[in-house]
Amino acid sequence: MADIAVIGAGYVGLTTGTCLAHLGHNVTIADIDEIKVQKLSEGEVTIFEPGLSGLLTQGIENGNLKFVVGATSASRNAAFHFLCLPTPPNPDGSTNMEYFNSAIEEIKDILPPNSVIVNKSTLPVGTASQLKKQIQRTDVEIVSNPEFLSEGNAVQDFLQPSRIVIGAESQEAASSVAALFKDIDATTQITGTESSELIKHTANAFLAMKLTFINEIATLCELVGANVLDVAEGIGYDPRIGSTYLRPGPGWGGSCFPKDSASLLQTANKAGFDFELLEKAITLNQTHLQRTAQKVVDALPQGKEPENSKIAALGLTFKAGTDDLRSSPSLAVIEHLFNLNARVSAYDPMVNLPIENMSKLEITSTAYEAASNADALVILTEWQEFADLNFERIREAMRHPIVVDARNLLNPQDLELLGFQYIGLGQ
Ligand code: UGA
Repeated sequence: MADIAVIGAGYVGLTTGTCLAHLGHNVTIADIDEIKVQKLSEGEVTIFEPGLSGLLTQGIENGNLKFVVGATSASRNAAFHFLCLPTPPNPDGSTNMEYFNSAIEEIKDILPPNSVIVNKSTLPVGTASQLKKQIQRTDVEIVSNPEFLSEGNAVQDFLQPSRIVIGAESQEAASSVAALFKDIDATTQITGTESSELIKHTANAFLAMKLTFINEIATLCELVGANVLDVAEGIGYDPRIGSTYLRPGPGWGGSCFPKDSASLLQTANKAGFDFELLEKAITLNQTHLQRTAQKVVDALPQGKEPENSKIAALGLTFKAGTDDLRSSPSLAVIEHLFNLNARVSAYDPMVNLPIENMSKLEITSTAYEAASNADALVILTEWQEFADLNFERIREAMRHPIVVDARNLLNPQDLELLGFQYIGLGQ
């Protein structure tokens, strides 16, 4: 079993380190945030990720998992150094390498001889080669091993992955990293570092493009009287298309798709390639978010101006199953609603504090409170809890029983029977 340092205790680092400890490795996770390290050492998980807490406690108890402050303390005695650092976007869409570079500067001279740096963070193409020159350590190999962890499902995505991708320039380094995952039953693809880095960006950009496509089809369905759910099902049976990532929504978002598509576009620009298809998929998503807000305003009772009405929004995070608000489509739609002068009250099972820069948004502690005196209600994320609400009670609370279901979560017939005007997406 290997000695592994994981630098960064965000959701990727924490999941990676905890799962590697679960596989039997001796793992030390480092972060710069002392309070976070203290909490984690006591078994308190700082993010919402199903299954993580149990594995983390297990790792601490069996001695496989430790938490320390600072990358140096973790890396000094490790054979593998997993870099799981934030890579936020710069204003132009390129990747901000500040956290990554400062960790590298901190550890490059104390790395034990013949150890391996493993880039888990999503990094622009060429980072591994550039890093090799930057660290000036001929004895240290750089490997790219992108994560394919979706929030809310990260532990399962780690332990039962669709594939493991390892990018390396040395076969020996690739094999040593592959051996860390030997107990995981998955296809392992070994490539060069550039391809591995590009695989990660391409996967996210492709899924984002697929979602833009189905959202565009949803709009077309509304114009021609088709039902996007039937269309998605019908094309999804074709294994060349596949049935996942075909659920239309208010627009896609989250901490990865927007950032990674923008970064891939920058990579293409830098390489002198005009990646029009991807660029259009990104701008069409913006249009779709705006269209979702307009749909809600259009659904208001006749003669009711947005400024004199109240809209109830259910769901604030970027999807169900997470507490993450980063680049949330729900917040983008609400922002557009504010621009259209609407008043919005929102409920989310994972959010109870005011949201930065959204002082106009009233956050309630139940869906019924949000619905109270509302002229329309919009479903923005797909929590089962929203489908299980007592809609009779919701109808009684609302001023006008109008539901815009931007996730197609509810059963239209059930709502219509209860006296609601139901407006789905692409139906
Ligand atoms: C995504 C990828 O799915 C992971 O494989 C990847 O590792 C991760 O980014 C990353 O780069 O770290 P995540 O950001 O958690 O994971 O989000 P997804 O579950 O993929 O959802 C992204 C967006 O697409 C959300 O806004 C979601 O609501 C939307 N979506 C997804 C739909 O609107 N319809 C769908 O059918 C699926």
